[in-house]
This record gives sequence, structure tokens and C-alpha cells, in this order.
Amino acid sequence: MLQGLTIALSKGRILKESLPLLARAGIVPVDDPDTSRKLVLDTRREDVKLVIIRAQDVPTYVEYGAADVGVAGKDVLMEYDSDGLYEPLDLGIARCRMMVAGRRTEGRLRRRLRVATKYVKTSRAFYAEQGLQVEIIKLYGSMELAPLVGLADRIVDLVDTGNTLKANGLHPLQHIADISSRLIVNKASMKMKHHVVKDFVAQMARAVEVTGRAQSQTRSRGAEAGD
Ligand code: ATP
Ligand code: PRP
Repeated sequence: MLQGLTIALSKGRILKESLPLLARAGIVPVDDPDTSRKLVLDTRREDVKLVIIRAQDVPTYVEYGAADVGVAGKDVLMEYDSDGLYEPLDLGIARCRMMVAGRRTEGRLRRRLRVATKYVKTSRAFYAEQGLQVEIIKLYGSMELAPLVGLADRIVDLVDTGNTLKANGLHPLQHIADISSRLIVNKASMKMKHHVVKDFVAQMARAVEVTGRAQSQTRSRGAEAGD
């Protein structure tokens, strides 16, 4: 009997950047994920389906076996912080950095530094390592606003081009971690569906390698052309 594979992905950046890698493994959604309202997408491989969920929910679905495998940002995995998952592959997509950011100059504070972030656990661990006692304020998005309206002195957020920080008069101050998306695997699926999961991980590893090679060729052609 053909064993099925359920892959958890989040809409947006991760779905967009995962699709070309999945396509190299012959996994192509039947419906267009940009326009479909379906949360379970069939693919051209009848043994594989995709479930589309919030980025922060991907580790939960995979740990509890509602999906066999998934794609999650390292930022989300650091915050989820569980040993109930395997993380066999760095997909090298959705790359960015987790940074502390704020205004470059600020007056002397008479109270604890206030840090706004959706990455509470990771921020707490970062400041604890620095021996600094800070007040962490949990937010769910638009962290860059917090220092502008006096809610916080610093933020911990993701930075890619730096445009969002710049547009809001903020500066990157400290680097916490390099971030990219990882393939995660349910522990029971790794045992019970060993061949299917192993094959899938190997196919994705090959897709990452081929994509990386193509990207470095494009870069070196660009350098030769003087771009
Ligand atoms: P949701 O919309 O479900 O609340 P989200 O806003 O974190 O979640 P995305 O913005 O699609 O979802 O981000 C998904 C993942 O992409 C993040 O967990 C992170 O790993 C990565 N990411 C986030 N912002 C950037 C960025 N500016 N550049 C590159 N990668 C990023
Ligand atoms: C992410 C992150 C920053 C921004 C950084 O937000 O939270 O706000 O990207 O990218 P940049 O350095 O290239 O400007 P995103 O665009 O995902 O919006 P979100 O608030 O919906 O998560």
C-alpha cells in the first residue's frame, strides 16, 4: 500500500519559496495556492498533500503528527523550543537575521530596558546570557512601532534588507541569530513511514543543492558581466 505524506506549510514567504523546491521532487499543488481557499491541497503526486497553516503553528502540527513533515523558520523553532521534532535539513530559504534594534542614541534610563518582541523566549535567553535584566513586552507584529510611540526602548525582530528599520528611524544594534527555514519531521512518521520520509528528505536535500548551484552560477555570471 502507498503510504501518504502530509506536508505543513505556511502561506506567504515560506509557501512561495518552498514551492520551487517541492516541484523538483514532483510535488506541485493541483489548485493554485495563491487563489485557492482550500487548507488541504492535493498535489500531482497522489500520495502527497499540503496543509496550509499559520507559520507559528507548523511545529505544533508536525510534533502532534497532524502533518508528517513541515517547513518552519528557525525563529519559530527557537521560540517553540521542543525536542519532539527532528530538524534534518536547512532549506536555505526565507533567510534573514534576528536582531536587537532601536534608536542609536537614547538618554540614560532610570528603569529596566523595555524590549518589545514576538520572540519572548529567545529574547529572554539572549539578555540572560548578557547578564542584563530587561522587561520583555510581548507583541504579535509591527514591532518597529513600539520605540516610536514610547512603548519600548528596543525591539527584537527579523531584519532582511533593513528597509523596515530605516523607514522607521531605527538601527540594527545586536545580532542574535541567522535565520532560514528548516525541514522538520514528526518522530513517529520517521519510524513508521521511514522510506517515504527518508526519500522525501533526500529529494529536498538534492533540490536545495541544485538550487544553490544554479544561484551561484547566476552570481558568477553576473560578476563576469560586471553587474
Ligand atoms: P503569520 O503571518 O502566520 O503570523 P509571519 O508573519 O511570521 O506569520 P511570514 O512573514 O510569512 O509569516 O514569515 C515566515 C517566516 O519567514 C518567518 O518565520 C521567518 O523565518 C521568515 N521571514 C520573516 N520575515 C522575513 C524577511 N523580511 N525576509 C526573509 N525571511 C523572513
Ligand atoms: C518582517 C519583519 C520585519 C521585516 C524586515 O515582516 O517582521 O518587519 O520583515 O524585513 P526588511 O529588513 O527587508 O525590511 P514581514 O514583511 O514579514 O511582515 P509581517 O509584519 O507581516 O510579518
